[in-house]
Amino acid sequence: MKNIVILISGGGSNMAAIVRAAQRDNWRKACGAQIAAVISNRPDAGGLALAREHGIATDVVDHKRFDTRDAFDAELARVIDVRQPALVVLAGFMRILTPGFVARYRGRLLNIHPSLLPAFPGLHTHQRALDAGCRFGGATVHQVTAELDYGPILEQAIVPILPGDTAQALAARVLTQEHLIYPRAIAQLLRAL
Ligand code: GAR
Repeated sequence: MKNIVILISGGGSNMAAIVRAAQRDNWRKACGAQIAAVISNRPDAGGLALAREHGIATDVVDHKRFDTRDAFDAELARVIDVRQPALVVLAGFMRILTPGFVARYRGRLLNIHPSLLPAFPGLHTHQRALDAGCRFGGATVHQVTAELDYGPILEQAIVPILPGDTAQALAARVLTQEHLIYPRAIAQLLRAL
């Protein structure tokens, strides 16, 4: 069985969408895969309770307990590796990862970012798209490389930016699409693994 480990920092709506897709499309049978654990760097992440409701094992590696990024990433990798993952999925995981960590999971580390990469890497993507006068926003699923919000693109979704849009309204429109493209990209990759 190919184990999937999902990393979150917050509400976990992408994680929940992946869990729902895995159940609905029977990834165990269709892809020989299962979601083995959800790991958060924040003990209060709302997604942890959601994962437990679905019967998924959860772990917390609180970044505040570590003095350096290297120390945090080493512990995170140790906790991830207990699950022997075929795929490590970043789903609203808001920590910058060290090159060593990224190299360890090369080719099996995915991220979703709420912009049409390579436009707007980093934070506040929706406000920046509005400020730039973009007519379209979107989201990108990509392989993670050492460069932040970069790496080979697997899926993108485009949404229109409407007159009078706020960053919040745009974020909600994009998030709906994230919930469609992330499970799809993961399922496709699982079949190829
Ligand atoms: C999502 O919009 C995701 O694309 C974004 O955080 C949100 C998490 O929502 N990720 C990033 O900005 C990573 N750079 P969720 O916790 O409800 O899935």
